[in-house]
Amino acid sequence: MSDVLKVRVTEVTQETPDAKSFAVEPVDHPEMFGYRAGQFLTFRIPTDWPEGAARSYSLCSSPTRDEPMRVAVKRTLGGYASNWFCDTVRVGDELEVLRPAGAFTPRNFDGDFLLLGAGSGITPMLSILKAVLDQSDRHVTLIYANRDERSVIFAQQLKNEADKHGERLTVVHWLEVLQGVPTDATWRSLLAPYADRQAFICGPAPFMNLCEKVLPEVGMPSDHIHLERFTSLTNDPFAESSVEIDTSGPMSKVEVTLDGETRTVDWPRSNNLLDVLRDAGMDAPYSCREGACSACACFVLEGEVELAHNEVLDKDDLADGLTLACQATPLTDFVKVSYDE
Ligand code: FES
Repeated sequence: MSDVLKVRVTEVTQETPDAKSFAVEPVDHPEMFGYRAGQFLTFRIPTDWPEGAARSYSLCSSPTRDEPMRVAVKRTLGGYASNWFCDTVRVGDELEVLRPAGAFTPRNFDGDFLLLGAGSGITPMLSILKAVLDQSDRHVTLIYANRDERSVIFAQQLKNEADKHGERLTVVHWLEVLQGVPTDATWRSLLAPYADRQAFICGPAPFMNLCEKVLPEVGMPSDHIHLERFTSLTNDPFAESSVEIDTSGPMSKVEVTLDGETRTVDWPRSNNLLDVLRDAGMDAPYSCREGACSACACFVLEGEVELAHNEVLDKDDLADGLTLACQATPLTDFVKVSYDE
């Protein structure tokens, strides 16, 4: 099966003056589109650039609802992909995507949640918020920062969720025109009451950096802090990758569970896990192939691996057994891995 899937656009909604949301449905292989709240789709963006163009957008829909997959795209100044989406994409268009992926997703419902979003960083927050409300009895506080009222994406949907879920959901809007740009001091006093929660954070870099600095200062344990940073992809994930699987050198074995199926395959120690699985015909997810996006994240349940490069998993993720298939090579003769945890 080809790595590249297709979705058809079924609805385009102008959410704010500079943001639209796009509902999509699989054109084929619907079984490849199972996803978890907080994950993203990677889209091929048409271009004549020799290196191609691709961009990942978080899903704002939730798999716990009977609703189509949906992404929201906010124009950025000079942003090729975001402007292409907002100017060009219409209902009925077919777009090329990679299967949903990413590790920015609640792994348990052991405590209440603090969601911190800014601008279009609301998209995975909306997905996570719906999933937590639907799948647990936990409380959720969303703090959502925007420049002004006109730039609040999904304002009505958030109000509807708050009305429906009563005290389980609190939505706090932070508007810079009224309250100023968040500072260390204002953020410390705002976030301090939530230090025992699990935090999920997505937004522009200065916002994420502020949250990442302040949350430990108010006492939140580092393994409760989860960040989603999107960087531009330098490789074209849609390009054919031509990787030589080296069967002449030392070899390990890997038992892999993916999409409910378990297989054992040989794993040459010089090849990364992603290449080995794809060479064996398995549809292991990926996007950047360079250790920067977490699309290929999976759990090591037995044995040990090492990562050539890692920009996304922190030490707590690694301690939980998470790894990046595109960067992992084996250190032990046998490794057991699961994508389905
Ligand atoms: S595919 Fe992006 S980190 Fe592996």
